Amino acid sequence: MLGIEKSHEVMYVFFCVLAFTGKKTVTSLPTKRVFAITYGCQMNVYDTRRILQVLARLGYEETNDPTKCDLFLINTCSVREKPEAKVFSTLARYKPLKSLNPDMVFAVCGCVAQQHGRALLEKVPWVDLVFGPDMIKDLPYLLEEIEKGKRLSLTKRMPRASYEFVEVDPKFEKGPTAFLTIMKGCDKVCTFCIVPYVRGREVSKPFAKVMDEVRSLVEGGVKEITLLGQNVNSYGKGLEGNPDFVGLLEALNDTKGLERLRFVTSHPRDADERMMACFKNLRTVCEYLHLPVQSGSDRILKLMKRGYTSKEFIEKVEMARHYCPDIAISTDIIVGFPGETLKDFEDTLKLLEKVQFDTIYSFKYSPRPHTPASRMPDDCPPEEKQRRLMELQSLQNEITRKRMQRFLGRVEEVLVEGPSERNPFQLCGRTRTNFVVNFDPVDGVEAGSLVHVRITEVLTNSLRGEIVRPGGGLASTFQPEATDGH
Ligand code: 5AD
Ligand code: SF4
Repeated sequence: MLGIEKSHEVMYVFFCVLAFTGKKTVTSLPTKRVFAITYGCQMNVYDTRRILQVLARLGYEETNDPTKCDLFLINTCSVREKPEAKVFSTLARYKPLKSLNPDMVFAVCGCVAQQHGRALLEKVPWVDLVFGPDMIKDLPYLLEEIEKGKRLSLTKRMPRASYEFVEVDPKFEKGPTAFLTIMKGCDKVCTFCIVPYVRGREVSKPFAKVMDEVRSLVEGGVKEITLLGQNVNSYGKGLEGNPDFVGLLEALNDTKGLERLRFVTSHPRDADERMMACFKNLRTVCEYLHLPVQSGSDRILKLMKRGYTSKEFIEKVEMARHYCPDIAISTDIIVGFPGETLKDFEDTLKLLEKVQFDTIYSFKYSPRPHTPASRMPDDCPPEEKQRRLMELQSLQNEITRKRMQRFLGRVEEVLVEGPSERNPFQLCGRTRTNFVVNFDPVDGVEAGSLVHVRITEVLTNSLRGEIVRPGGGLASTFQPEATDGH
């Protein structure tokens, strides 16, 4: 994500210099062009692809050059204060584009759009269109109205009973990996979280539709699919025939040509033994679990209304490791939740020591509008939140470094994703446990190849290795020498 944003910024400065020095001005374009920026989670990345898909039918093609676009689109995230603030600073930074091309349409979608609605049009006068995550299907109509000179905000929520997901067109999935939303919204009541407010109640995509979409993605060359949902364990609620998440995994596991399945996010309270057994029993389900704990203090977990204790969380981790000893586990942690004492924070550090996560995503608490926690006194000073975050991250860096050592000398199955970002002469892919591996290319190996790579070096956040067997095939059917494999 960060890489994408950075390259946009560099391009933007470059093109603005050209434009303002008069060497390049915006002229009429043969087809309509859209320049899109995505902030936030994988769900937003997925939504942006669906938006581009709808726009393509209206004759839009994607451009990397913001000075040459007819539609400037920001898909936004409001889960924490920082990404929300970024939306406003980005809008301000790109404002001069409007003077270069007054016909250009500025559109804001996603969670910030849903949260602010019409107020966003008032706050940012150069924005023409604000639309919520449920309005993607209505874009053709919305753009027609904008062309008539209107400024619009549409953040209606589609009712659960008639909710329609935008159908996935495999043409829009470039490369061997793809995201697929299987449910949206959240029925949980975590007191810090704005998601239930901006994304609404849980709605699951019909079972047959998920199956069809997976099949068509695989036919189009996709090898690995990450199933997305705020709480994938709730999949199936309210659908005909009451399918459930494990039933879906079992059915998808039989898809010919599908090599890997991942899923995010699982809620610790709902992730049960049947799901954990999938890590052992289903060939496609990768040995990686994201299980957000948020805090190691039972007192804080209660205030957060997470619905489990730290002991119960640890039991879930043990259950996952019982079925799959080598599984990689990541989590989310919030520091400085209202009322978090030093003792509470130390309980979180103890939990980290005990669980030995492979990775963590950690955040300073920020109050979000409409949430119960925002009415609790935010009593941890910013400097103290920062100090706790640093201490937490430094402990975890040490744990991650030690955990990653287990890969040294092992042969891992890697799905090649393409050239490495840092060194285009190298290839890059991921292990089933979701670690990035860089290695030298060999003939016949390209994006989409499944290869076996011996890990020769463990770096801070990635691995380096060399291909030992370029052919496809799953790790379970390949017995490399001197490895304890999956
Ligand atoms: N403050 C800080 N972090 C938050 N998250 C969600 N809401 C907040 C908030 N108000 C974090 C949680 C969640 C992740 C997506 O973002 O850790 O799991
Ligand atoms: Fe937010 Fe909790 Fe739902 Fe996750 S489970 S999206 S943290 S309310």
